[in-house]
Order: sequence, then structure tokens, then C-alpha cells
Amino acid sequence: MWTSLAVGLAALVAPSQAGLRFGCSTLSIQRLDPIVQPGINPSTHVHQIIGGNMFNASVDPTIDVGNAASCTTCVFAEDFSNYWTATLYFKHRNGTYKRVKQYPNADLVNGVQGGMTVYYTQQDFNSNGNQKITAFKPGFRMTVGKPTTNTKDQAVKNTGIRYTCLQTIMTRGAETPDFPTKPCPAGIMAIHHFPACWDGKNLDSADHQSHMYDTGKGGFQVAGPCPSSHPVRMPQVALETMWNTTEFNDKSLWPTDGSQPFYWSTDDDTGYSSHADYLFGWKGDSLQKAMDSSCMFDACGNGNPLKTQNAAQMNACKIKTFVDEPVDGWLPQLPGAPSFIKA
Ligand SMILES: *[C@@H]1O[C@H](CO)[C@@H](O)[C@H](O)[C@H]1NC(C)=O
Ligand SMILES: *[C@@H]1O[C@H](CO)[C@@H](O)[C@H](O)[C@H]1NC(C)=O
Ligand SMILES: *[C@@H]1O[C@H](CO)[C@@H](O)[C@H](O)[C@H]1NC(C)=O
Repeated sequence: MWTSLAVGLAALVAPSQAGLRFGCSTLSIQRLDPIVQPGINPSTHVHQIIGGNMFNASVDPTIDVGNAASCTTCVFAEDFSNYWTATLYFKHRNGTYKRVKQYPNADLVNGVQGGMTVYYTQQDFNSNGNQKITAFKPGFRMTVGKPTTNTKDQAVKNTGIRYTCLQTIMTRGAETPDFPTKPCPAGIMAIHHFPACWDGKNLDSADHQSHMYDTGKGGFQVAGPCPSSHPVRMPQVALETMWNTTEFNDKSLWPTDGSQPFYWSTDDDTGYSSHADYLFGWKGDSLQKAMDSSCMFDACGNGNPLKTQNAAQMNACKIKTFVDEPVDGWLPQLPGAPSFIKA
């Protein structure tokens, strides 16, 4: 029964319908940004970073990170890419800030510490739209969203960047372009979908975005076709970060004017400045092999075709803190004192 069903489906949706969903522990939390502010130490705001140990104030784009790195906080041991977003802070009524901790998503390997959930899908969650998916190349990088986005109109247009107010760890679907206005019992999920259409030439661009084109429609819906300017369909990379706000959900700690108390490390309490960065670093052709196969999620591991590592190995991967400043505990100001100009 199962075999004939599987064969029937395979005939309909050739060449493949692989999808990856996996956990990566926190690698580091510090003020560095090798894509947007390369070589600048410290960068303007704090990031939370996952992935391989080549992350640094700058990462030479001519280096093949997948060969140069030696460990990663991701469960797929050949993924030495780095992924990062801003960090969430709570602002107390008394004016001081404390970093909100991340917690591991549902259905990940036990023992993930903080970090994010990473997706590489094809056309949507379950299929690839019957098209070739081309893996990124060494040196590839991109960003989605901008730390300067400060209007709701702009935020609404960034369909890949959303929030879910988690009633439980499993809450999905109700997404907003701005921070939830009420306490969320299981925290706030920050969602980042990167664009997936590539111009076929440039590994990066001056704004780190124009070499890519977004045909996503939000969530894991079927994306539109790639335009002729950006004809190459790449994996749809998405991130989910589970911010555990429960320590701060007592409304007596919230602002007396009824506004919500969470700030991105960019000094933004609207949520519009949400952004994410991707620096490719899969080893050899491992990502292409996964995209060409028909495995789904965890079944892509244990050598089918990707190598898997355990949580202890993930959590043992560390980098130095290159920026000498506290990012945790009650802080009189956000690290670097960035200023977000509301429109
Ligand atoms: C990070 O950059 C510093 C300063 O340029 C350098 O000394 C160090 O070796 C780099 N670390 C890695 C892992 O590349
Ligand atoms: C603000 O509140 C926190 C939490 O109660 C406390 O630890 C901190 O000392 C307070 N800071 C100031 C400046 O009042
Ligand atoms: C969230 O934070 C609370 C309060 O600090 C803690 O008790 C709880 O274990 C955390 N939840 C998860 C899933 O980590």
C-alpha cells in the first residue's frame, strides 16, 4: 500500500520534494555583523548567531566556509553556514533592559540550547513545484528585512517577516508584522523567510538583497515563479526563533501607558526592524544532494544523505566573544545604545 502510494506520488512530483527542518543551538550573542558591517567591531546592535565557527567580525567571501570551518551548532554536521538576527530585550518599567532567552522549538533533537529552527524548503512545505532547486555556492550571502524599517506599510510588504504570539509551543498561523500587544503565554516566535530567486551571477550585492528576488507569499505557501531577472530557484531558507518571554509576562512590569515592553536590540519596540542574515557554508555538495533527494526533515539525517551530530556535539561548538561588553543581566541601556527613529 505505502510503496505504491509513494511511487505514484514520486511519478507526479519528480524530480524531488526534499525539505529540511532542523535545530541549531546558539553559537554566540555579540555585536558583530560580517555581512552588513564587515570588519567593524563592535557593530551597531547585538545579534544572536547560530551555525559554524568561522563567524567573525569579517568572513572573507573568497573562503569556502564549508571547508574552512571545523564545527557547527546545527544538527546537520555539514552545515557550517551562519544565520543571525537581532536579539530581543525586555524593557522594565524602571528603564533597564534584560535579554530575553530563546528556547528550542517543538520536535527538535533533545538538548538544543537556545538558537533557532532552520528550514530549507522547495516550493512550499511539501513539494518543490516540479523544478530544479539549485544550492547556494561558497561565498554566497544575503539578508532579509532592514534594521531601519520603521513603518507598518513597509513591514506589511515584507511578507516573510512576521511574529506569532505563542499560546503554546505549537501555535501557528496567526502572524502579525508587529510585536504582539499582549503577553504571550509561551513566548513570541519571530519568523524570517529569505527570498529564493537568484540572479544566477552575484554571490552578494551592495545592499545584500538585490541579487535575490522574493516570490514568497508568506508562511510556507506556494511561492510564485521566479522572474527572468532572477531565474534560478534556490532553497527557501526560513528561520524561527522562539523567544521565552514568560519571565516578563507580569503586566505590572509593563509600561503604564499600556504599550508592549519588548525591544529588538536595534532599539525598536514596533517590531518593524526585524531582519536576518545568511552566510552560506554547507560542505561540498551536501546541500545540493539533500535538495536532489526526496527526504523530509529528520529523515534527511544519519547519512540519508546528510550527516547528523548529537546535541552534545552541537553545544560543544563555540567561538570567542570578540566584543568586551555585557549583553545579559539588567542593563542601563541596550548594548551600543542604538537609536531607532520611529516614522
Ligand atoms: C577572527 O578575527 C580575528 C581578528 O581579525 C582573528 O585574529 C581570528 O583568527 C579570527 N578567528 C577566526 C575563527 O577566523
Ligand atoms: C530595575 O528592576 C530590576 C528587576 O526588578 C532590578 O533588578 C533592577 O535593579 C532595577 N533597576 C533600577 C535602576 O531600578
Ligand atoms: C521559560 O522561562 C521560564 C522563566 O524563566 C522558565 O521557567 C521556563 O522553563 C522556560 N521555558 C522553556 C521552554 O525554556
